[in-house]
Amino acid sequence: MKALVLSGGAGTRLRPFSYSMPKQLIPIANKPVLEYVVENLREIGVTEIGIIVGDRAHEISDVLGDGSALGVAITYIPQDAPLGLAHCVKIARPFLGDDDFVMYLGDNMLVEGISEIADEFAAVRPSAQVVVYKVPDPRAFGVAEVDENSRVTRLVEKPQEPRSDLAMIGVYFFTPRIHEAVDAIEPSWRGELEITDALQWLVTHDRDVRARIYSGFWKDTGKVEDVLECNREVLQRMRTDVQGIVDEESTLIGEVVVEEGARVVRSCIVGPAIIGAGTLVEESIVGPYTAIGADCRITESGVSDSIVLSGAFVHNVSGIETSLIGRKARVGSAKQHRLVVGDDAHVEVAA
Ligand code: G1P
Repeated sequence: MKALVLSGGAGTRLRPFSYSMPKQLIPIANKPVLEYVVENLREIGVTEIGIIVGDRAHEISDVLGDGSALGVAITYIPQDAPLGLAHCVKIARPFLGDDDFVMYLGDNMLVEGISEIADEFAAVRPSAQVVVYKVPDPRAFGVAEVDENSRVTRLVEKPQEPRSDLAMIGVYFFTPRIHEAVDAIEPSWRGELEITDALQWLVTHDRDVRARIYSGFWKDTGKVEDVLECNREVLQRMRTDVQGIVDEESTLIGEVVVEEGARVVRSCIVGPAIIGAGTLVEESIVGPYTAIGADCRITESGVSDSIVLSGAFVHNVSGIETSLIGRKARVGSAKQHRLVVGDDAHVEVAA
């Protein structure tokens, strides 16, 4: 089995981050979302991975390279414009050949992995198997109607009046039968070749399409709140590991990771938390639920429930909460609010 990871997409809901970084590279507990995707694939034994990339191709290949560091072989497949998930399958055909494959949206976090679902697909081998999740408002998703034997009876993309609460999330298992369906469909009202339409084509043509409810933690990391929630979930699963230096005047409470070359000086780190390689935390309180990236300086400050990306400086600001601070950003204090804030940024200051 091969994998097709989709990593084009503009990430408009993650602005301003997505101006300078593809959303699939946003770090969760100091690791880019795409790396979790690759790890989940490797865990089910998939090592040949095609990644669909758009105009951010270089940034993605800078991080993942040829995949060898992660134990996989990556082929980059360029897509000129975001023309839909089924279009991705179409352009990946030379890479996919006639193999079964799993298609995985590169901004989706399935924290408990996908091995149970992969095993079920291998055992039953329906034409397609979609992964669904019960959501309170499925209108923003493809929605599956499923019978008591887990067979999909109907699929609708972004229905105004959903007839089920089962949203399709970003993982799909396919046999080569999907190619015939992808070739048969027309673009939707939004001008995209929808994978939901291709799946519906299979259902209409009496192919076996199954659905499997994901029982673990799932989030599409499209919005800042969701990124922070994923961060909390992943940090909660980490165990204490101190590679860097923690001085005698500092305290670590709970599960704390201090990466190599990091220094914690006269500070308190409340786990779950991770302090990135080469970072200095001095006279500060960090955590809980906080990931500080590499080469940051957090001094005389308090940061909790937040993600700070590499190279950021935070000085003399307490009470930073539920925040996402970008690479090399500088956050400091003054008597007045002095802000140099980029396009589409979001700032809330204490009243
Ligand atoms: C796409 C699919 C949709 C699916 C969703 C999962 O939507 O078309 O069926 O539920 O991904 O995130 P899009 O993100 O393109 O709007």
